[in-house]
Amino acid sequence: MTWLLPLTLLFSLWGPLADAGSVNYGGACQVGNQKLEFGTYQFQSDCDSTSFCNSSSLCDHKGCRKDEYPFGYATGANLPPRCDTGFFCPDEGDQCLPVLAVGSPCQFDRDDECEGPPNFKDLADKTGYGLNVNGSVCLNNVCMWANATLGNNCTVENTGYTVYSSTNETVNIVSRDNCSPGLYCDSKAAVCMAMKDLAASCDADKECSSFNCLASGVCGVSADKPKHVATWVYVVVGICILGGIIATLIGMYFLHRGHRTAEREKRMQYWREQNAFRQNILQMQETARHSIMSLPQSGNHSPRSTVYSREGLASEESQLPMLAPQSKSSALRHQFSDDGFDGSEESIVIQRRDPGRF
Ligand SMILES: *[C@@H]1O[C@H](CO)[C@@H](O)[C@H](O)[C@H]1NC(C)=O
Ligand SMILES: *[C@@H]1O[C@H](CO)[C@@H](O)[C@H](O)[C@H]1NC(C)=O
Ligand SMILES: *[C@@H]1O[C@H](CO)[C@@H](O)[C@H](O)[C@H]1NC(C)=O
Ligand SMILES: *[C@@H]1O[C@H](CO)[C@@H](O)[C@H](O)[C@H]1NC(C)=O
Ligand SMILES: *[C@@H]1O[C@H](CO)[C@@H](O)[C@H](O)[C@H]1NC(C)=O
Repeated sequence: MTWLLPLTLLFSLWGPLADAGSVNYGGACQVGNQKLEFGTYQFQSDCDSTSFCNSSSLCDHKGCRKDEYPFGYATGANLPPRCDTGFFCPDEGDQCLPVLAVGSPCQFDRDDECEGPPNFKDLADKTGYGLNVNGSVCLNNVCMWANATLGNNCTVENTGYTVYSSTNETVNIVSRDNCSPGLYCDSKAAVCMAMKDLAASCDADKECSSFNCLASGVCGVSADKPKHVATWVYVVVGICILGGIIATLIGMYFLHRGHRTAEREKRMQYWREQNAFRQNILQMQETARHSIMSLPQSGNHSPRSTVYSREGLASEESQLPMLAPQSKSSALRHQFSDDGFDGSEESIVIQRRDPGRF
């Protein structure tokens, strides 16, 4: 019953909690209370979902199950067996019974209780919409074979299921019949008709081979058909992705190029500054050397003491315009006495020119 599955699932979510009986194993029950719940057509009895009401009117452990994963059992619990081929487990779940011959009474929507036709391979439903089971179908509680042919009389069973939404409650009518595969039973004429192709006008899902009659009144593609995207969409998406990557790369290139240019400009400026400094220093060194060379070599005054002593500085100031003013002379002298004259010439001059920088 694949096409009934969503409904079954929907109801099984909360249905059994409200509907399943509450009498546990060993408790008293009444077989007469068994019925199908209105709107959901779920089987209901006094006993809970793991037991059935036996002939002594007591709830007894179920003897079989019809679902692979039955409701109401704890994880790891011992499940009753499923029935072999040629047998079925009735709604009550008491025991496995042999399949029923054509014309026998069967339980609602239990095609699997009916014996298959000899040509079951041809008649079996291959659409996956649950039109029959192994070529047999239970309509109006009678076992039949789904063998009615085009233009011949057919039996139809319409069932209204109650469908709940968050705000509304509507009825979904499910129509089942005994027509052969590829045919449907027209409810008014009660004869089998061929299923309609895409875009043909329709009144119900069963009329369409896709089992999807759109609200616009035409057969649409099957509701579970996967969506296929045209090749050009893949191409366009691929181009967009590539374009995005390339655009990002180009954008990053220009952004970084701007930064690089600014950085290079800064370095160039620093280099020019340093170069100018160096030239300046060399020039001053040269000037100083010339000045020292031209000093008169009298008495026991060394050139050093003449240049860097306070007295010498005062007397020779006009000849050494680049040297430190009086206030800086002590620092100069300190540096000079620490490092010696020859090695510290440059640092002395730098300190003098720009004391705040170093
Ligand atoms: C009915 O179930 C009870 C357990 O609840 C069991 O003792 C009793 O034998 C069962 N009756 C029949 C006829 O199987
Ligand atoms: C289908 O029906 C045929 C004929 O009754 C039977 O032999 C076969 O075992 C059935 N197959 C299944 C899967 O029930
Ligand atoms: C079609 O199925 C019915 C039972 O539903 C059966 O009586 C009848 O013989 C079948 N017809 C053919 C041609 O198999
Ligand atoms: C269909 O059934 C009706 C009665 O319900 C009968 O009058 C009619 O002749 C049948 N048509 C065919 C093709 O068997
Ligand atoms: C409920 O659904 C039915 C059928 O779709 C619609 O006619 C009705 O207006 C809805 N009612 C509300 C309250 O939405």
